[in-house]
Order: sequence, then structure tokens, then C-alpha cells
Amino acid sequence: MAKIKNIILIGFMGTGKTSVGQILAKKLNFIFVDIDELIEKILGMKISEIFTKFGEPRFRDFETEIIKLITKKKRQVIATGGGAVLREENMAQLKASGVVFCLTAPENVIFKRVRQCKNRPLLQVENPEQRIRALIKKRMPFYEKADFSINTDGLTPEEVADKIIKEYKRLIDGKAQSRAT
Ligand code: S3P
Repeated sequence: MAKIKNIILIGFMGTGKTSVGQILAKKLNFIFVDIDELIEKILGMKISEIFTKFGEPRFRDFETEIIKLITKKKRQVIATGGGAVLREENMAQLKASGVVFCLTAPENVIFKRVRQCKNRPLLQVENPEQRIRALIKKRMPFYEKADFSINTDGLTPEEVADKIIKEYKRLIDGKAQSRAT
């Protein structure tokens, strides 16, 4: 491989960033960093508690701080929270430090994957399905800034990881054009 860049996973909640990221890191012998997990560790609180105690804007500030720190290091697979793409400065840092892959899935698949989870404060509403639809619509232009987009529907996390590795290797060997799959 010519240049070793970080691999950054962005995408909506429930698209598999954490499970794919862990497999990817193992396969490439990279360090795996989950931004949300790191925030939870540093603050000693679950994401849901952080939202309750500090509110979303403060959570976004923590997220930006951690992204700034983490993107300085190399040989990492970085899984971001679904809303990390919303701040331009986050996206700029992420893009500068690596190749950005957006994981996608159909709304109904996302809903099935996240409906039991109590640690996603933005979805603790009366109609989570409607919220998912609205958030995806709003965030689509931000997710589209990724270098690659991978539809995870019908694929195992391992298969998604293999697709990413293939594109990553092609890209850093200078053979790939960014595109959606
Ligand atoms: C969020 C996604 C979550 C977490 C927080 C906010 C979002 O991460 O950062 O609940 O705004 O989409 P996951 O995408 O890992 O669930």
C-alpha cells in the first residue's frame, strides 16, 4: 500500500458503523476507535445521560473535540456517531485524515435495527420511524460528502468490511474513482 490513511465510517444510526469498524480494524491490523464510546468513557456516562444532563449542543461540542484529537493519529478505523457529519469542521477533519465511507441502509431496515435501543436519545420519541425518515432526509446532503457510499442491505458486517478494504486498497494504490456502490 502506498499511503496509509485512516478509514472513517460515517452514516445514519443503525447502519453498522461499529460492527463493521471492529471487523475492518482487525483485518487491517488498525486500531479501532468509536467516537461515541470514547465520549462515554471520558465522561463516564452513557450517550443518553449526556444528552439529558448537557443537551445535544454540548454533546456535539464533545464530539468535535474528540474528532479533532483522534484524527491526528494514524492507522485507525474511526466509527463516528450518525450526526458527526453535521458540523463542517468535523467533516473537514475527518476527510483530511482518511478515506471516508458512508454506510447506508433502507429506512425500514434501520428502524428494525434500532427500535430496541434505549441509548439513542434522538429516537426516544413517540414515532421513531417518522423521526428516522426526517433525519435521514435532512442529513442526506452531508452523508453524500463521503468518498464512497456502501449499501449494507443484505450484507453481513464482514462482507461490508471486505468491500471497504477493496475500495480502500484501490484508492490508495491510485486506481479508484470515488463512487457509490
Ligand atoms: C446520533 C447518533 C449516535 C450518537 C448520538 C447521536 C445522531 O451514534 O452519536 O445518539 O445524531 O445520529 P450512532 O450513529 O453510532 O448510533
